[in-house]
Order: sequence, then C-alpha cells, then structure tokens
Amino acid sequence: MIVATIVGARPQLVKAAALSPVLRRRATEILIHTGQHYDFEMSQVFFEQLPLPAADHHLGVGSGTQGAQTGTMLQRLEPILEELNPDWVLVYGDTNSTLAGALAAAKLALRVVHVEAGMRSFVPTMPEEINRVVTDHVSALRLCSTATAVANLAREGIAEGVHQVGDLMAELLAAELPRTMSRRAAESLGLERRHYVLATMHRAANTASGEVLERILAGLARSPYPVLLPLHPRTRAAMQRFGVSAPAPIRIIEPLGYREMLALERDARVIVTDSGGVQKEAYLLGVPCLTLRAETEWPETVDAGWNRLVGSQPDAIAAGVRGWQPTGERRPLFGTGSAAQRIVEVLLAPQSEDGETQAPLPRAKSGTGEG
Ligand code: UD1
Ligand code: UDP
Repeated sequence: MIVATIVGARPQLVKAAALSPVLRRRATEILIHTGQHYDFEMSQVFFEQLPLPAADHHLGVGSGTQGAQTGTMLQRLEPILEELNPDWVLVYGDTNSTLAGALAAAKLALRVVHVEAGMRSFVPTMPEEINRVVTDHVSALRLCSTATAVANLAREGIAEGVHQVGDLMAELLAAELPRTMSRRAAESLGLERRHYVLATMHRAANTASGEVLERILAGLARSPYPVLLPLHPRTRAAMQRFGVSAPAPIRIIEPLGYREMLALERDARVIVTDSGGVQKEAYLLGVPCLTLRAETEWPETVDAGWNRLVGSQPDAIAAGVRGWQPTGERRPLFGTGSAAQRIVEVLLAPQSEDGETQAPLPRAKSGTGEG
C-alpha cells in the first residue's frame, strides 16, 4: 500500500512524527512537504528532534495570500500525486496545505484520508474552518480525535467513512514527555518552575489589527509572573507592521523546538494561547489554559474546567494569569494513545466505494469510547 502524506505547517509535522514511523512498518509512505512553513524553527527543528522521516518531495511554496498559497500548492502537488498514483492521500488538520492536498487528490479521483477530521469552530469566515469543512466533504475516510468531532460530522450528514481513532498529538506527547523529565528549559531561561506564564498566538483574528494585539499584550502584562512568548513569525510581522511592542514582564523569544516547548508547557503556571494543539497539550499536562478566542474546536477541555475562553479581553486574561487554579477531573478525552495504530488499521482494512471498512477492525486497547 502506498500512502502519500502531505504536510506543510508546524502542527502537521508534530502529527506526522506520531504516525509516520508506525505507518512505515506496514506501508510505503511518500512524505510531501509543501513548504508552507520554512523557517528553521517552524520546520527543520521538528525533523531534527522528532522521529519524522525526511520529506521525499519539498514543494517550496512559502508564504502568500490565502488563494495564491493554496493555488501554488495545488499546481505543484498535482503532477506528483498523478505520477505516484497512491492508494491514499493523507492530510492532517486544517491548514492551507490540508486543503490543497485534499483538493488536488480528489480532483485526480484519488482517495483522501483526513486525520483530525470533524473539528469545527462554527465560525464560517475562519480560514481553518473553510479548509476543514471542504476537506471533510471530499475525503473518503474521516478519522476523528474526539466524540465531538464525530458528532459534528453527523450534523453535516457525514456518517460513512468516519472513525474515532484518538489523537496523534496526545500520543506523541505521551511518548516524548518522559524524555523531557531531565530538561530544565525554564531554569535555563532564568525562570522558576510554576512561576511563569507561557503564551503563544498566531491566529488571523488575533493578528489582523494592532488594537487586538495591544489588548492581548496589555492583559498579559498584568501578570505577576514573567510571561514567555515564543513568537510565531506571523505575529512578529504583525507587531512590526502595527508598531506594537510587548511591555514587561513579557519576554519575546524565537519559536521553540518541540522538546523545549513541551518542557516549558509542563512547568508553566498557566498557558495562554490561541493554538489548537497547545490547548490540547495544556489539558494533557494538567496546566490551566486561557484561550485567546471566543470559541474552541476542543470544547471538552472547557467543559472539564481546564480551559477558559478569554478572547482578547485584558481583564479576563489578567484574572486568569493571576489566581486561577482549576480543580475539575481530567478524563482521557483524546484516546488511549493508540491513534497511530488505529489509523494504520483503518487504512489497511478493505474499503467499500463509500469509505466504509469492510473487515471488522480490531478493538481499541481499552473501552474509552474510541471507535
Ligand atoms: C498556519 C495555518 C494555521 C495553523 C498555523 C500553525 C492556514 C490558513 N493557517 O497559520 O491554521 O494554526 O499555520 O502554526 O494554513 N512565516 C514566516 N516563516 C515561516 C512561516 C510563516 O515568516 O516559516 C510568516 C509569513 O509572514 C507568513 C505568515 O507567517 O505570511 C503566516 O504564515 P502562514 O503559513 O500563511 O499561516 P500561519 O499563521 O502560520
Ligand atoms: N509548538 C512548538 N514550538 C512553539 C510553539 C508550538 O513546538 O514555539 C508546538 C506545540 O507544542 C504543538 C504544535 O507546535 O505541538 C502546535 O502548533 P501551532 O500552535 O503552530 O498550530 P495549531 O495547533 O494552532 O494549528
């Protein structure tokens, strides 16, 4: 079986690091990097730190407007996919690389498998929402992390070719966490464990105006603890464009490698973020999370009491970083750590035309509602 996997942005490299080694034991995988992210800290560092095989094709697409970036990817992906004629084209998540990969494949009548399917923010103008909805609708297989995602698809009339497999990021975190135990990333930055805030932001809605950026930074600046902000290049560019600077105690650093990031997440007092992956990691690590958005694709973390939606409101951000300590139980929301194995099993099972697996799938290791 040949699987062409398309990656391009940082979170997709993290997800591929969990799946590729497992997939390659049973199938031939061709890894295609669109080049959506290209700075060393946004791409190569993940190949160096994680069990991620080198890309077989690098399309060098780089940055651009939504249409230009997606269009260039489509144009460059098409001849490669046509030549490879894989059994599956696998895409992750909701970036422009996801959409381009799914569209290029569907138009060549190749079967698309969407990993992390069914996520919804219900904000129709959000670039990621457009990417997810279209990708889910052209996919033959939609592999979901959570029960919420399965229910979202059902609401759109998609029930076939849907499997709840658990979450790859959660699986990678569980594998990598023991390796971070000896890491003193906080100390090496002069920070004290549980006495700093870790913040990330990059969403279009939070970086499109100087006012929103200023509100978020003003809220963070009221933290009684140092605030470490590994700055996404989109946000760095926006701050320069709008002439916005970060007041003390905010400390801006370059984006981090996965292992440093995990160690700093683990030891933070609170995490403040608009990242999907970081919200999930905060929950898994038992670190309180303030989400700089009005909604989330991971509502289970909010329902569990470990994630608060604070938008860009300075008072809510300040209150959260000052004294909030969640007490709710943290149930295993993201599967039992066998997502990669489950994905490979679904891919290898015989499929009917509509994406339904015809052979019964082996049961998940324990009954936590997966599958
Ligand atoms: C993209 C995804 C978003 C995801 C995020 C993960 C889309 C529409 N958005 O957003 O869903 O959460 O990746 O990080 O696909 N830049 C650099 N160097 C890089 C990459 C980007 O300088 O290596 C700068 C460029 O100015 C670029 C901007 O960041 O224009 C935005 O990059 P882009 O990949 O278009 O979107 P992200 O904000 O990274
Ligand atoms: N991440 C990282 N270094 C950073 C910021 C994030 O390694 O400086 C990791 C983070 O731990 C998670 C993933 O990148 O595994 C999330 O990516 P990002 O926030 O860019 O995208 P999103 O999840 O919002 O799509």
